[in-house]
Amino acid sequence: MPLEHQEIDPNVDFPALARCLFESYEDPPQKFFHVFFPIHGQGAAAREAAIEEAATRLRAWHAGDPSSRWNKVVDTATGRLAGAALWNVHHENPFAAPHPSDVTWFPAGGARAFVEQALANHSRPRARAAQRAHVYLFIIFAHPDYRRRGVGQQLLDWGLREADAAGLEVFLDSTPYGRPLYEANGFVYIEENINVPATDAPDQAWTDVAEKVQPFTFWLMWRPAGGKYEEGKTVKPWEQSEG
Ligand SMILES: CC(C)(COP(=O)(O)OP(=O)(O)OC[C@H]1O[C@@H](n2cnc3c(N)ncnc32)[C@H](O)[C@@H]1OP(=O)(O)O)[C@@H](O)C(=O)NCCC(=O)NCCS
Repeated sequence: MPLEHQEIDPNVDFPALARCLFESYEDPPQKFFHVFFPIHGQGAAAREAAIEEAATRLRAWHAGDPSSRWNKVVDTATGRLAGAALWNVHHENPFAAPHPSDVTWFPAGGARAFVEQALANHSRPRARAAQRAHVYLFIIFAHPDYRRRGVGQQLLDWGLREADAAGLEVFLDSTPYGRPLYEANGFVYIEENINVPATDAPDQAWTDVAEKVQPFTFWLMWRPAGGKYEEGKTVKPWEQSEG
């Protein structure tokens, strides 16, 4: 089956992107996904509502963020989406100013507080290492029906070409499932990030989300500008600036 790389059409693609995103992170299930894209409630209707909310939010993020670049791979025999990725191309340091919280996808209270802390924890290693222009691979997924057929590779190739054309480093936070793809593409492991939000006074909503999400681990990975890393020779800019 022909799997073709394409840029997205933001006017039509987000419902299919959101559905493919959910199906990709449900197989195998990854508990942290709830932090970014929760299903509020039980059953098929709650899941459909969550996919719809995700599509609306992804579209709004894309429209409101000049750094946002999506790409996708389509099965041209059927028109089905096989996978997609969201990149942020930062031409300036994105951590120069603090970001106001915008966790609209959880109600105010303990659940939102938990998620705000989880997101702050999540970006902390990169906020330390990537205080410069860089490309960030925020989301990447291949649908379970299309895995190990080069979908992830096509998505990555496109972003890495864009990064190289702009002379930029690439950072990402990897799940356990992403690491083999990134290691095969010259990314270097930088830091393990075990995410366990904590509070002295958890309310029921905090406890419920903590129970659902469980502690989760990501690995910060990095690819230098141009992509050629040599152990002991390639300078890691954040180590220099840390003296
Ligand atoms: C990670 C993911 C996007 C990889 O997509 P994919 O289309 O299956 O990957 P590709 O077929 O392009 O793999 C390219 C290369 O990466 C490596 N690779 C990818 N998946 C691998 C795996 N499960 N085990 C070992 N190596 C793997 C291999 O070197 C592979 O080349 P090969 O198949 O010729 O050996 C996919 O597994 C996925 O969507 N996982 C769930 C969501 C997720 O965790 N995303 C990562 C977020 S950081």
